[in-house]
Amino acid sequence: MKGNRWLRSTVGLFVLALLWEIPGAYGDEAVQTSPAVRRAEQAMEALQQRLQARLRTALEEKGPAGAVSVCRMEAKELARAVSNEAGFELGRTSHKLRNPANAPRAWVIPYLERAAGQSASSVRQVVVDLGDRIGVLRPIATAGPCLICHGAPESFDPALRDELAKLYPADRATGFREGEFRGFFWAEVPKPK
Ligand code: HEC
Repeated sequence: MKGNRWLRSTVGLFVLALLWEIPGAYGDEAVQTSPAVRRAEQAMEALQQRLQARLRTALEEKGPAGAVSVCRMEAKELARAVSNEAGFELGRTSHKLRNPANAPRAWVIPYLERAAGQSASSVRQVVVDLGDRIGVLRPIATAGPCLICHGAPESFDPALRDELAKLYPADRATGFREGEFRGFFWAEVPKPK
């Protein structure tokens, strides 16, 4: 049965992802400071800075509801631009998604489940061996200004609430607290040949 096969492969991937968490990879100095990990960190940093800069001007110029459409149109473009410059794939994901297109890759799921609901400062950067690539996860913290659009929906500007309902009918990315783990930047860097 099709459904069964899907389930089995999902479980299989989950188990594989657990096995990939090689003992010693966490906190292992040689792995954490390898050139591939440094490249991943630089690209994720660049993406974060560009997203934040864009978000800040959009909020100033258009207010929360207007900034939502900027996020929607530009977040993906920015990720694509940074990815092209870096030469590997990267993006953002979360356990509580606003846009389903930001769904995690299979190897990321166990790390999201573990970090869900925790304070971001207690979640460490993750480096995972993906065979021909190295996966890197960098925790994203919910800062005060993020609550404008990811905090309690009752606190939202009404125009923002309408805009979110229209564009993201399956929005789960609300109810975060300041300092809470919001999600990961992820990157997959090819191993040097
Ligand atoms: C103006 C409203 C607004 C603010 C403020 C805002 N976001 Fe978002 N956020 C969005 C929208 C809209 C999306 C969906 C973007 C898309 O369609 O890819 C999103 C998506 C995300 C995602 C991708 C995962 C998902 O849920 O789809 C992360 C991670 C995220 N935001 C983190 C943050 C953080 C951290 C802050 C504070 C620095 C922040 N956001 C501030 C509107 C906002």
